[in-house]
Amino acid sequence: MRAKPQPAAADLYVSTHARLGRTPARPLTGEESRLRTAYRLCHRITRVHDPGIHALFQLVPAALRPACWALWAAASVLDDLADQRDVDPAEREARVKAWSQALQRDLAAGTSTDLVRHALVDTALRWRLDLPDLQGAVSSTVGDVRDRRFADWAEWRAWCEALVPWVDHVRHLFEQAGAPMTLRLDRHRDYKQFIDGAQLTDILTDLSADLAHGLLLLPQEALDPFPDAEEDLRHRRWSPAVAALIAELTDLARQWVTRPAMTTGMHPGAANMLDTAACLLRAQLDAVDAGPALLKRPPRLSVVTRTRIFAPARLRAGLAWSLTPLTVPGPRRPEVTAHVPRPAAENTARRTPPPHPGGARPPQIAADQMPAHVAVIMDGNGRWAQQRGLPRPEGHHAGTAAVHEIVCGALDIGLRHLTVYAFSTENWKRDTDEITTILEAIRHDLDEGPLRDLDVRQRWLGHPDKLPQELVQALQRAERRTHTRAGLTLTMCINYGGRDEITRTAAALAQAARAGDIDPHHISEDDFARHLPHPDMPDVDLLWRTGGEQRTSNFLPWYATYAELHFTPAYWPDVDRRDLWQAITEYSRRQRRHGAAPLVSPKSTDRSPRPI
Ligand code: FPP
Repeated sequence: MRAKPQPAAADLYVSTHARLGRTPARPLTGEESRLRTAYRLCHRITRVHDPGIHALFQLVPAALRPACWALWAAASVLDDLADQRDVDPAEREARVKAWSQALQRDLAAGTSTDLVRHALVDTALRWRLDLPDLQGAVSSTVGDVRDRRFADWAEWRAWCEALVPWVDHVRHLFEQAGAPMTLRLDRHRDYKQFIDGAQLTDILTDLSADLAHGLLLLPQEALDPFPDAEEDLRHRRWSPAVAALIAELTDLARQWVTRPAMTTGMHPGAANMLDTAACLLRAQLDAVDAGPALLKRPPRLSVVTRTRIFAPARLRAGLAWSLTPLTVPGPRRPEVTAHVPRPAAENTARRTPPPHPGGARPPQIAADQMPAHVAVIMDGNGRWAQQRGLPRPEGHHAGTAAVHEIVCGALDIGLRHLTVYAFSTENWKRDTDEITTILEAIRHDLDEGPLRDLDVRQRWLGHPDKLPQELVQALQRAERRTHTRAGLTLTMCINYGGRDEITRTAAALAQAARAGDIDPHHISEDDFARHLPHPDMPDVDLLWRTGGEQRTSNFLPWYATYAELHFTPAYWPDVDRRDLWQAITEYSRRQRRHGAAPLVSPKSTDRSPRPI
């Protein structure tokens, strides 16, 4: 949500509709000409609304541009619907929802009466975009209607993640066109940081317009070190505190957008586009950091600066793309059995978990006795199957059902974090059929399983190397679709190894030291923790392993150093939610000291769960 100084896309959209209605440039006959009009409108919205983005899209082959415009125009129209300050928030929310529902119908019908949606539907079907994902990106705009306050950078970043699906769709176009430009999967951290940097630059650029609407889209954590800055900003006073805050934030954004390794291995045309975007953002940040005028109007780049950036970039783009023949797919109708996109889970009423079949209810555990984070080694699937004369893969299907049951139990008892070890870096040593079964069970579960509709945020910890691309994409989709859910965070460790995680984190620290971002002589545990793949994941309080073995097997070594251990004999497919509750009850009786001397007499450690 941003108060934009440019003409609102929604207004342009309406005026173009009106103009087309009164004096059409030429008779609007036939599907082709209507589609052309729709794409032209999207082009115009992009050009007027965001000239920088428009110039970046000029660096992609002409055949791909209409789809880029359609995606961008749709995002802009939605942004403006969510952000029309003169309209009541409830009404704005209703408008965004109506747009999103209409898109769902249009995608199923393969056409739309609305020109931007018409172009978007054509783009989505023609380029085989992931329809539920697109619908999810659209629906998540509803969350932008309300004014935002962010306590810290983590909250702010979660908000920024809404941008990722839109950028991913543009990346998908290139893949579909046959340009080998996929972002290296081990560069996802750089990619997310780059998007954060772009968002922060945008917020700083639009500061004056946002302040005029009473908006300050910066986290409290960033404002706190500059005690008077917020007050001064809200009164549009350029004070030393404001100057220091802006200098600090522009510095931060500069670091975030400067990710040279992000484009390693990409097609040179794509790398050129992203490198040019980084150049443009840095120039924009120079303009932001130029003094008091920032609080009066959005700083704009001079023609000279733009030409200096884009003239060589256009030359490089021409050369780079001339080397790659691209395939542009023809129009497509929705398949008869088309997967009708589900509305984004964020905005559907979440089902409460189905009750335990025997009617069991969770024990009452006092809040200060609850573990925040339970991690599970789900052992015994193979033996469970063999015991029944079934092939081992059958054990993994049964094990997947047990995951659902335990997730329900976690929701019932109010657990915040559950992490499951679904596939380790050592599991590649297994038979190919078994590996395929496990990975395919997980992929299917992500796309179709019952967890989709529960209040569960799904996250993935592990490395993409060797994993099937469809699984990686399904994991990334699930992360995006569920990132605003607050009930339970379910982290799935897939292609995960604890030593591997520590080694990669050490490598990331070494890189940061080499880049001068961190002093190698003063690396603390906190610095290390911040470079872990999931720096916000809490330590494990309780580590539970089923199947009778008593090992931790390379599972979460950094997080579980102080975990209470709990080993149970039953095979994983045989567990139900009462086993999780039992594990938590036992945990609540233990005394945790983290290396400190006991505070109370040893006798008192043998406690029953405290009633709440
Ligand atoms: C260990 O048992 C289990 C695994 C290696 C796979 C676990 C995966 C699942 C249960 C699927 C998870 C699904 C989701 C949705 C996260 P084992 O095969 O080593 O058993 P064994 O010790 O009896 O041989």
